[in-house]
Amino acid sequence: MSTEAVAELNACFGIRERVTFKQTEGGLIVAEVGNAQATARIALQGAQVLDWTPAGGQPVIWVSPGAIYTAGKSVRGGVPVCWPWFGPHATEAESPAHGFARTQCWEMVQAQQLSDGSTTLSLRLLQDANTRLLWPHDAELLLLVNVGRRLQIDLLTRNTGDEAFTVTQALHTYFAVSDVREVSVQGLEDLPYIDKVDDGARRVQSGPVTFSAETDRIYLDQGGECVIHDPGLQRRIVIRREGSRSTVVWNPWMEKSVAMADMGEGAYRGMLCVEATNAAEDAVVVEPGGEHRLQVSYRLASL
Ligand code: BG6
Repeated sequence: MSTEAVAELNACFGIRERVTFKQTEGGLIVAEVGNAQATARIALQGAQVLDWTPAGGQPVIWVSPGAIYTAGKSVRGGVPVCWPWFGPHATEAESPAHGFARTQCWEMVQAQQLSDGSTTLSLRLLQDANTRLLWPHDAELLLLVNVGRRLQIDLLTRNTGDEAFTVTQALHTYFAVSDVREVSVQGLEDLPYIDKVDDGARRVQSGPVTFSAETDRIYLDQGGECVIHDPGLQRRIVIRREGSRSTVVWNPWMEKSVAMADMGEGAYRGMLCVEATNAAEDAVVVEPGGEHRLQVSYRLASL
């Protein structure tokens, strides 16, 4: 995208001292949002929130020190939008993992400064001939991101066609943690989960989730709240969800992350993905004219 495109975005959607569009070195366009409550960056590619830092605090969202900012590649970190399928495609091995929404360029719809001091951006992804080859349905996908003391993200799937379709999806959030070996996730106790590092074995969670090896699980839950408890940073990250009855907890650990070009040695220790999903038996059917809303909100609390 050209310098003129950035200038046009600033002319149409820029808000003085609140929302500015810039181009990264790799050529991605990023909206920088800042207000008295927090700062955040959102890439137009994938409508991907890259970071969110509440005022006076430490970053809550993690982005890899080895992240690659280039067209057609999802940035390692932030909040990738996995849609219209989560994980590998059910039948087509060649189709991209986690769908195509995370690597498409979304369009800006609106930027608004709200009276409570927070700032909202709305972005839209429409189907085109290329995405229809991968997924032959008529849909509009909207992402609303509200940057304030809380970070709230709403992902709306609208069926604009005349046949029902099914989606699996995720707001694949990478959280910054002091040391994944020292943190725990509370709120998933006693829930059944699918263990992807053990051939999809079904197990039941006993106590809070803790980390001492590669972890890749789909918890089947009822939505609601879960919490990352981080003694090293003396904070809790409170995660609320709506429109989701499954949660993915993922950390690649050492061996897998070393094999990733955009991760860097040892970086896995500083991150933990807790993803609000519609995955496995929590797939959602969207009827013609209907919509599904997946919503997350994150806030910090002290220990
Ligand atoms: C998680 C999946 O959601 O995303 C993992 O459960 C996967 O299996 C991970 O490895 C990262 O995926 P990607 O495509 O961004 O490397």
